[in-house]
Amino acid sequence: MTVAAQTAPAADKTILRALAGETLPTPPIWMMRQAGRYLPEYRATRAQAGDFLSLCYNPELAAEVTLQPIRRYGFDAAILFADILLVPQALGADLWFVTGEGPRLSTITDQAGVDALKPVDAIHDTLSPIYETVKILTRELPTETTLIGFAGAPWTVATYMIAGRGTPDQGPAHAMRENAPEAFDALIAKITEATIDYLSMQIEAGAEVVKIFDSWAGSLKGDAFRRYSLEPAREITAALKARHPGIPVIAFPREAGDGYIGFAKATGADCVAIDNSVSPEWAAAHVQVDGCVQGNLASSHMVTGGQALIDETRQIVRAFRNGPHIFNLGHGITPDADPENVALMIETVRSFKP
Ligand code: CP3
Repeated sequence: MTVAAQTAPAADKTILRALAGETLPTPPIWMMRQAGRYLPEYRATRAQAGDFLSLCYNPELAAEVTLQPIRRYGFDAAILFADILLVPQALGADLWFVTGEGPRLSTITDQAGVDALKPVDAIHDTLSPIYETVKILTRELPTETTLIGFAGAPWTVATYMIAGRGTPDQGPAHAMRENAPEAFDALIAKITEATIDYLSMQIEAGAEVVKIFDSWAGSLKGDAFRRYSLEPAREITAALKARHPGIPVIAFPREAGDGYIGFAKATGADCVAIDNSVSPEWAAAHVQVDGCVQGNLASSHMVTGGQALIDETRQIVRAFRNGPHIFNLGHGITPDADPENVALMIETVRSFKP
């Protein structure tokens, strides 16, 4: 009898094995934004829901779009379909999406704005449909597919709550951090606390892994990076692991550069997701030495395809072959991607023997 046959079915999930530190002959694979507008079936379900937020809050349809890329491609993980901006909305911010432009929120600039937010206990009134989506997925996903829950990291979520939109340099959040540090710290603390409760509820509903998206970590430098990216990730990870021993955590301090080094050890995360601004060889030498890494193909290859896609995919698999690795993009797939290129990427990863 093989060792695998003696263990629980969950232990056969390749994503969980990589997160536990195992080096696999073929890296498991999933893709950021794998449920999204590049898929015609996603666009059809979104139209059925009415709009993006109605889709997020409709458990049946949100579960359906989560399952679509699993059916089409057989990814090793499904990521819950939701958005990082649902937490600000649950805390009382207004949230809407402008077609072709992105999210808009009411803004917070001072302590009064932070004080006006709802208590953390109240978030579940808004977020309960998300937990329902997780429950549906635990029933409907193939047994070998890992279910990943997620939330935005406090800094990234704060940048949207302060500016009321996405910003190229996160200027308004940096200004508040410098000019109103106490109110800024109170906002970070509030989001941190809400995020712990939100992820905890996702885990209780059946999420097997959680990922913390710090998409704008790269604009924090030095002490600010430690204080507002690393420290909240550490706090969230510690609280989740205290409540749910053994729950694996993936941290994504995007564009952290040298900040990736030691991030897993310092935060307690089981895996660090790497963007494509660093080479896989560098990440293998400096980050994978501490454990599992995820990444890091440029999402532009999903638009352009061809031999360059194959070559770079192989380069990444080769660079990370001596340690635990989950294959992924360096950031989310874009709406102009060709679904055929996703199939080519998966084929390349699964057939390559470095
Ligand atoms: O990865 C997945 O498939 C799971 C679902 C998911 C979405 N957003 C769905 C979504 C996840 C994990 C996110 C995370 C998210 N949302 C982040 C962090 C990751 C990152 O990309 O850096 C951020 C910053 C957001 C905030 C957000 N949501 C923005 C800036 C936008 C508009 C930009 C865009 O791509 O249109 C969204 C909308 C959004 N979230 C879409 C999807 C599928 C597109 C909405 C649509 O269908 O019109």
